[in-house]
Amino acid sequence: MKTQENNLFEISPRVEAMNKQLTALASAPANAPNGLPGTFYADQTYFEHECATTLKNGWHCVGRADELVDDGDYITLHLLGEPLIIVKDASGIKALSNVCRHRGMRLVEGQGNTKRFVCPYHAWTYGTDGALLRAARMNNEGFDPKTCKLGEFACVERFGFVYICLHENPPDLDKELAELVSLISPYEPDTYKIAHSATEIWNTNWKCLVENFMEGYHLSVVHPKTLHGYTPTGLSQKAASGDGFTSYYANYPQDIPARGQGAPGLSPEAKHRSTLFAVFPCQVVSIAPSLLVSLSIRPKTVDSIEVRWTMSFYNNELDQDTINQRIALWEDVNTEDREKLEIMQSAFRSVHATGGPLAGPDYEGTVHDFLLWLAK
Ligand code: FES
Ligand SMILES: [Fe+2]
Repeated sequence: MKTQENNLFEISPRVEAMNKQLTALASAPANAPNGLPGTFYADQTYFEHECATTLKNGWHCVGRADELVDDGDYITLHLLGEPLIIVKDASGIKALSNVCRHRGMRLVEGQGNTKRFVCPYHAWTYGTDGALLRAARMNNEGFDPKTCKLGEFACVERFGFVYICLHENPPDLDKELAELVSLISPYEPDTYKIAHSATEIWNTNWKCLVENFMEGYHLSVVHPKTLHGYTPTGLSQKAASGDGFTSYYANYPQDIPARGQGAPGLSPEAKHRSTLFAVFPCQVVSIAPSLLVSLSIRPKTVDSIEVRWTMSFYNNELDQDTINQRIALWEDVNTEDREKLEIMQSAFRSVHATGGPLAGPDYEGTVHDFLLWLAK
């Protein structure tokens, strides 16, 4: 029997069979693609396998860089069971383990600004670079504070987003996103300023939200009042994909005026659409001339996720009323999607949830890209 990387545990026969099924689906002819069967969204063993492989090896967006501006600004989160502190210090933004090196207490909760992290259990004190600065009454001769630095994970900034990876040898993010740079850099994504964030629990498998956000096939059906007027299904258009991402254009009808000017380098076409992209495994984004919406999906269980979404705006070009309207619109859109995904989740254990044919590239080509990526 094969063992997984890290020798954590052996691949069960069930997971092995499902991986074979995934490989077979990925090698179906391009003009007859099929979606994943329900077990891929509902099987506990398979979810644990994904946590140890696909999810652990991937880059995860943890927020916007402009949420961490001053030295000592920090946010905390749990990702795949790992408690983390994302903190800005003199050398940049880093991802520290939120686990005390003494006896494992969580050091800090929520978000804020600090010069030091003081453990609430026995008061070991760490700098914002993770170094242990003070440990009272630790008089044992063999004790060396230098060996008690907080754990650290890979952390980079791209497009104004902060990405982290839990694997000790992370994949090359720049290689994975090479073609994405040319697609979205005309928007100047790193200059958008955050105006709103929210965190919610959705009762759905993590892959369902990636797929849902990334396909235009459902837009007119699920969002008749919220999105159909601006981004009807019929104008969806597949865009570039690469090693670690996929994308599509949600074009606006001709008679709809552009919603904001955006960056000076944007083409007339770019001003008349939203570009939706996924950075696999767990980030989905919609970028338009004035508005950037990003959802970071944090898988919690096989059938639940924590979703943290942020809204950022270009160059203060929208007034507060318009911003509030956009926030309210996206709250409605998310509620509409969530309702559908939570109902769908309850059907995945059916013997008839066998995975059906996917629509063509403009409508569900991104779902097919995601399946190909999962199979790799
Ligand atoms: S567990 Fe943190 S100081 Fe003891
Ligand atoms: Fe939707």
